[in-house]
Amino acid sequence: MTVSDARTQKILVIGGSGFIGRRLVAHLGPERTIATYHSAPFPGGVPFDSATMRLADRFLTGRHRITHGILLQGITGIDRCALAPEESARVNVDGAINAIDDLLDAGVVPIFVSSDSVFDGIRGPCTETDPVCPILTFGHQAAAVETHLRSLSAPWVIARLTKVVASFPNPRNILSEWIDAISRRELIRCAYDQILSPVDIDDVVAALTFFVNNELCGLYNISGPQPLPRIELLNTLLSFVGPDLRAAAKIDICSLSDIAVVEQRPKNCSLSNRKFAAASGLSTAPPDRICARLSQHYREDLVLSAAAR
Ligand SMILES: NC(=O)c1ccc[n+]([C@@H]2O[C@H](COP(=O)([O-])OP(=O)(O)OC[C@H]3O[C@@H](n4cnc5c(N)ncnc54)[C@H](OP(=O)(O)O)[C@@H]3O)[C@@H](O)[C@H]2O)c1
Repeated sequence: MTVSDARTQKILVIGGSGFIGRRLVAHLGPERTIATYHSAPFPGGVPFDSATMRLADRFLTGRHRITHGILLQGITGIDRCALAPEESARVNVDGAINAIDDLLDAGVVPIFVSSDSVFDGIRGPCTETDPVCPILTFGHQAAAVETHLRSLSAPWVIARLTKVVASFPNPRNILSEWIDAISRRELIRCAYDQILSPVDIDDVVAALTFFVNNELCGLYNISGPQPLPRIELLNTLLSFVGPDLRAAAKIDICSLSDIAVVEQRPKNCSLSNRKFAAASGLSTAPPDRICARLSQHYREDLVLSAAAR
């Protein structure tokens, strides 16, 4: 892509108000993006409900200059999807497929952000050649959209993510949620038998940007480099926090099967990142580096608030 192409092209981010969407839009910049929200408005955001509206009517009219549509929208609560399968399917399946079809009709490359929930969690890390075998309602919905895309001959991307974590506090970041829970002296229940391959949100943003800038198409897993049990991720985090916080941690180590949920979760959620790493030359941060950066963030915050007093 030439510099002038990059200046004139637009990227449509559906679900720009979500955890990943906000970070992606901040990275790509407002000049390059048109970003939507559903219930959480943000400056420059455009309201869009994929259950009741069509991209073709709202964004893909005239000379739109949109080259890629990144689909981050969805009802992402796993139990919410299980409890309201039809309502969630209207957004997660029908809304996503309508968006994909509208994008392709307008000559725009759809980038569907999928998830490790398309697998049953019996074994891992799963690769792009493993057949999907979902056990969650949410996973069945993601698999239905993947199947639709894979039947199409026009260029498309499926970016299949594992657990996304971040080196900054956010209610959707399990690492900062753990630190906050310890600070409140709450008990953390943590599974020894759930395997994750957590990926840094900035590596997800870099991967999505790579698809746009390099016109790479196809199915790619985007995951961290190192599968590890959930309890080991928590212990890694604790090894980077201060001694007071470490001493205050109250942890109940349990099996994933002991945690009360509407639908039993897949135990091995890890994905192999090899195909994307080979295609892009990009590597993803290991858990210890992400945990170190997050605890540094908290230390800097403490210094700043002490200086302000
Ligand atoms: N975060 C992870 O660990 C993770 C892991 C694997 C896969 N993924 C996938 O990555 C994608 C984004 O994840 P995320 O963590 O950023 O999710 P998120 O924070 O829950 O964001 C979901 C986005 O979808 C929008 N949305 C909800 N209902 C909508 C509707 N009816 N029409 C249009 N937009 C609607 C939300 O808008 P409002 O907030 O404005 O309502 C929000 O922008 C999801 O598809 C998820 O499955 C995420």
